[in-house]
Amino acid sequence: MKIIKPAINVTADHAVVWQDKRLFLLDQRVLPDTEQFIELHTAEETAAAIAEMVVRGAPAIGVTAAYGVVLAAREAFDKSGSEWKQAIEPLLQILEQARPTAVNLSWAIDKMRSYIKALDSKTPEAFLTEKAIVIHQEDIAANRAIGDYGASLIEQDSGIITHCNAGALATGGYGTALGVVRSVHKQGKLKQVFADETRPWLQGARLTAWELVRDNIPVILLADGAAASRMAAGGVDWVVVGSDRIAGNGDVANKIGTFHLILAAKYHGINVMVAAPTSTVDMSLASGNDIPIEERDPQELLACGNKRIAAEGVPAWNPVFDVTPASLVDAIVTEKGIVLEPDAEKMQKHMA
Ligand code: MRU
Repeated sequence: MKIIKPAINVTADHAVVWQDKRLFLLDQRVLPDTEQFIELHTAEETAAAIAEMVVRGAPAIGVTAAYGVVLAAREAFDKSGSEWKQAIEPLLQILEQARPTAVNLSWAIDKMRSYIKALDSKTPEAFLTEKAIVIHQEDIAANRAIGDYGASLIEQDSGIITHCNAGALATGGYGTALGVVRSVHKQGKLKQVFADETRPWLQGARLTAWELVRDNIPVILLADGAAASRMAAGGVDWVVVGSDRIAGNGDVANKIGTFHLILAAKYHGINVMVAAPTSTVDMSLASGNDIPIEERDPQELLACGNKRIAAEGVPAWNPVFDVTPASLVDAIVTEKGIVLEPDAEKMQKHMA
């Protein structure tokens, strides 16, 4: 991995950049203090960048993995020539195992695998690059459609609370939950965004705030524990969040803390929208109980930056996603439209 200081004016739409046959990721570990890109040369480096959160957010992980497959094809072809299709498979598996919860990762790799299967050309790189770019472009188009569908549900002068970062940084561009926010803002209907800080990686404080402040969208930061009080005080009409995987019955996995945010919303009679592309829906899983939940290093909780903040000797539990039952969700919004009060039957129909 090589660190590159940007020669461009960096925006949230630069989370994943493919340029001159090279893959660059905006390093989300160090935003907002430092703007730097990491250049990746191999599938192994791409998998490590995903695991280490250089890039994060389900759709952005999927887009990155698609480009990672191009790097894998280059490696496999350089090493094994006409035998490249056998040589690439272990590299795809390394990519697939980078993070377990966001299904967009295996969705993108499976898509690229199907192109590899169908390919008889002896030079795979150009063809697979084209396909990865299509996956990237389609994600942006999906987010714009999600934004508009989502905005159609939201009333004039609404307050929206969001969790983690489901913005341009977390996707190919525009964002899912923040795509809805952007569309609501464009339509002049947005009063205020409240962004949960999102312990322990602080995606809300570091990334959502960075994106929205830059776009002059009104945003106020909240400690995660302040969300229920904010709802009680008024001014919150909707919870709008993204997702890492939606099960076949509409149960939603998203960043840890989403479940209790939604429980608080239900108590206060506040609407709940989950905004995600269909690449996040995993119809092979009957319910959220089957979604693999990533547990990360307890150190992420015990320290802040490089400074230990917890008492010496205390252990920590660090699951980084939770599952909200479909029964607590008012609307799932994808690029195909809106599923109100989602359940297995409605999800089946929506995805058909
Ligand atoms: O651990 P992260 O930062 O990858 O988690 C990201 C989230 O939970 C997002 O809310 C989700 O991926 C939706 S992104 C459009």
